[in-house]
Amino acid sequence: MLVNCNKVMLNLGCGVRTHADWINIDWSLKLRLSNIPVLRGFVDCPSGIMIHDLRKGIPFGDTAADVVYASHVLEHLHKNHAGSFLREIHRVLKPGGTVRIVVPDLEAAVRKYLDALMAVRDGNTDQESIDRYEWATIFLLDQMVRTTPGGEMSRWIREKQNSTVVGSFEGTLQEIAKSISSGCERSGFKQRLSALLRPENPDSTGELHRWMYDVFSLQQLLQSNGFSDVKRVSHLESRIEGWMNYHLDNNNDSTPHQPDSIWMEGTKGDSAFRGIKETGL
Ligand SMILES: C[S@@+](CC[C@H](N)C(=O)[O-])C[C@H]1O[C@@H](n2cnc3c(N)ncnc32)[C@H](O)[C@@H]1O
Repeated sequence: MLVNCNKVMLNLGCGVRTHADWINIDWSLKLRLSNIPVLRGFVDCPSGIMIHDLRKGIPFGDTAADVVYASHVLEHLHKNHAGSFLREIHRVLKPGGTVRIVVPDLEAAVRKYLDALMAVRDGNTDQESIDRYEWATIFLLDQMVRTTPGGEMSRWIREKQNSTVVGSFEGTLQEIAKSISSGCERSGFKQRLSALLRPENPDSTGELHRWMYDVFSLQQLLQSNGFSDVKRVSHLESRIEGWMNYHLDNNNDSTPHQPDSIWMEGTKGDSAFRGIKETGL
């Protein structure tokens, strides 16, 4: 469905979550490989994505965009680069424009870990409680400290793919679990090629979380970088007209694409906040 097609809407760090009405931008290795003519047929990527490294800034002029959306991108930037990323968003937005940031919710991850810890500490040592505890710990820590691609997360999911805990995954985690379990059975050429091309160091695959946010720190970060009217919303709510029709945060059945996230929006006010353009996120 076409909505808002006269607006300039940027989807930064889009991954495979794209929409034709948006300018979808990413710098994944897969995308860069798909741009090499000889490899094009072997790498599956949605078409029409602008290949750009956001650490070099946002490739649009001042006040060019009506809306900027970045889902599960901010936590991949070093903490001291998050501010310059948001100031870049502020620079490219028109006055009155909307920023929508989605990040994994640190508070939700910590609560799940504490609940799981209390259960095993209180003597619930059945397999499901232990699995829940192990998964909560891995979910909290692994993406920040892993030293191999996929880290503990993919190893654990592969080992526990028939467990109740993996069976209860939703959204992207469910997709990851499915691809891990189908990957175990498949050994096609595409799979071997992508394994071969994948750097061994997770530092260069972009999968590491460099910081985590809760509702308080994310709100502070947006406000201190010039945004006003900063509010937490649900995955279904937005100031962006026709939001649910884009299916960027919501699946077809209205469940969230990235459960356990913080969805937050702010507005670029008319006031004279002076963003400092810095290169290098
Ligand atoms: C966890 S994925 C999120 C994808 C999608 N937005 C979603 O919510 O499903 C993070 C995305 O940010 C992209 N990304 C990370 N650093 C980037 C950079 N410096 N420039 C452009 N894209 C970047 C990655 O390539 C990846 O596709």
